[in-house]
Amino acid sequence: MRKTRVAILISGGGSNMIALVRAMLADPEHPAEPVLVLSNDPRAKGLELAAELGVPTAAVDHRPFKGDRAAFEAEMMAPLRASGAELLCLAGFMRVLTTGFIETWQGRMLNIHPSILPLFTGLHTHARALEAGMAVHGCTVHEVTPELDAGPILGQAVIPVRPEDSPETLAARLLPVEHLLYPAVLRRFVSGDRRKLALLRAEEPAS
Ligand code: GRF
Repeated sequence: MRKTRVAILISGGGSNMIALVRAMLADPEHPAEPVLVLSNDPRAKGLELAAELGVPTAAVDHRPFKGDRAAFEAEMMAPLRASGAELLCLAGFMRVLTTGFIETWQGRMLNIHPSILPLFTGLHTHARALEAGMAVHGCTVHEVTPELDAGPILGQAVIPVRPEDSPETLAARLLPVEHLLYPAVLRRFVSGDRRKLALLRAEEPAS
């Protein structure tokens, strides 16, 4: 079976990356395979974890480029091309990409965002969901388009917000749900299934 070659871009811990890699490697029938984990931070913990799982890794430090995003991306294209990647998964990749790079990969680049988009694009999503008085919070996997966090939604998962929640507890309860959603959406996407996936984990309030 010919598998779709997937590169995963990270900046830090890489727990979503690990979930994606494990899902692909766990099933010989999986239609995708991880061919590269690429980080903009050479010290990203996720690089070590990927290597332990046997996935090739590369790092392109964004700092020497001093804000020249296009030059940084041109450098990233070298390991991406060498890996033969056909699909990119952004997984906690904390650099803004240029329109040029996004257009190169449009239709072939996914991202996970920790909110129920289109609510709370950008940063500090957990705190903003709490400030807004939301009863539910969640995460979204979407295609990446030039407008930030605004590409077509492929799947969403929700969790209840608890009265005692802080941004930290909310983030900690959401992360394992991200790890369910992203691999499930990736598998569907690679299989050509564009139906939106909804993971609903609503909990009854204690009576
Ligand atoms: C996740 O919450 C992801 O949704 C967000 O950044 C976090 C990355 O976590 N974009 P990890 O690096 O996958 O552990």
